[in-house]
Amino acid sequence: MAPMEFTIRQMTPGDLREVAEIEASVFTDWYRIHRRDPEPLPRRTIAELRYATSLDPRGNYVAVAAEGALAGFVLSRTWGRVGWFGTFGVPTQFQNLGVGSALLARAVEYLSPRTDVIGLETMPESGANIGLYTKRGFTVTFPTLILELSLIREGDHLRTRADGGCLAWGVQEPGARKRILKSVRDISGSLHPGLDYSREVVAIDEHGFGKTLLATDRAGALEGFAIVRTAPFREDDTSGRAYIHVLGVRGGAHDESVLLRLLGGVWSATTKLGFSKVVTGLSARHARALRLLLGSGFRCVRAAIRMVDGVGSYDVSGTDQLVHLSRWAG
Ligand SMILES: CC(C)(COP(=O)(O)OP(=O)(O)OC[C@H]1O[C@@H](n2cnc3c(N)ncnc32)[C@H](O)[C@@H]1OP(=O)(O)O)[C@@H](O)C(=O)NCCC(=O)NCCS
Repeated sequence: MAPMEFTIRQMTPGDLREVAEIEASVFTDWYRIHRRDPEPLPRRTIAELRYATSLDPRGNYVAVAAEGALAGFVLSRTWGRVGWFGTFGVPTQFQNLGVGSALLARAVEYLSPRTDVIGLETMPESGANIGLYTKRGFTVTFPTLILELSLIREGDHLRTRADGGCLAWGVQEPGARKRILKSVRDISGSLHPGLDYSREVVAIDEHGFGKTLLATDRAGALEGFAIVRTAPFREDDTSGRAYIHVLGVRGGAHDESVLLRLLGGVWSATTKLGFSKVVTGLSARHARALRLLLGSGFRCVRAAIRMVDGVGSYDVSGTDQLVHLSRWAG
C-alpha cells in the first residue's frame, strides 16, 4: 500500500466540530468491536472540547490528510512538571498507516522538555494500544480504578457532613484566590514532585463546568481540595452522574476527616443540582485512599491501564498512603 500523505499541525478552535465527529466515530467503532456495544456514542459537546483544549492550547494537534479532511487528533497537557496525553484517535479507515504514531510523537515532543514524566490511560481490552505505547517507551504501572457512588443510597450518610464547612473557590476575592492557588500548587506538589493542578481550578470555574471545593483547618490553611465537574461530557447526557475530576489532600493532614469533609461538600453541591451519582478515578497505587472510598460506599465499576514514560524519575513499584484522586499517571 502507498504510504499515506498527511501533515500534523496545532489544533485550532475551528477544528473542534470535526474533532468531535471523529472522536465519536472512532470510539463508536471501538466499542462495537471490543465491547460489543452497538449504540453509537454521542459526540462530546463543543463546550467540553473547548474546555479540555484550553488547559494547554499549544499541546493539541490534528493530522490533516492530503485532501484536507482531518485524519486524527491528540490532546495533551501539562500539570506543572507532569505531562499527559489523551484523548487520542485516528478514524478507522486511516488506522495502521502511521498517523497515530506521528501524532503521538508530536505530543511527546511538546511534553518532553516541559515535564519529568508523561502519563496516559488506555483500555484494558486494547492489546494494540498497549503494544504501541510500549514500543514507544511507555511502561505499564498501577491501573486506574473507576469508582461510582450512589448519592441517594450508599452515599446518603454524607448528608450529615454536607454542611461540614467546605468553601468554594469561585466565590473568593481575587487576593484569596491567589493564595488558594498557591496552596493547591503546594498540595499537588506534596502528592507528586512538580505536580500542579492550579490550572484545573481556574479552568473549571472560567468555563462554568463545575466548581472547586476547599477544606481548610481552623487557622484557614488549605488541607485539601476537590474539583467537581457537573457539565456534561457528551451530548444528550442523561446519566445523572457528576464527576470528581481531581481531589487532593495534603500529605500528613488528617486525611480521612478531610476526605470525608470534601465528600460531604461534593454530596451537597451535586445533589442540589439533581445528580444521583458521582464518579471518580484513582490509581490503585493509592491503596489507603481506595479503601477509604470503598468504605464510604463507592463501588468499583471498571479499570483502565495506566502507562508512564519517564520511569527514571518515577517509582513504578509500591503502594502509598496518599489521598489523591485523579486520572493522571501517578
Ligand atoms: C490508537 C490509534 C490512535 C493509533 O493510531 P494508528 O494511526 O492506527 O497508529 P499507527 O499506524 O501510527 O501505529 C500503530 C502501531 O501499533 C503497532 N501495533 C498494532 N497492534 C499491535 C500489537 N498488538 N502489539 C504491538 N504493537 C502493535 C503497529 O505495529 C504500529 O507500530 P509500528 O509503526 O512501530 O509498526 C488508533 O488505532 C485509534 O484511534 N484507535 C481507536 C481509539 C483508541 O484506541 N484511541 C487511543 C486510546 S488510548
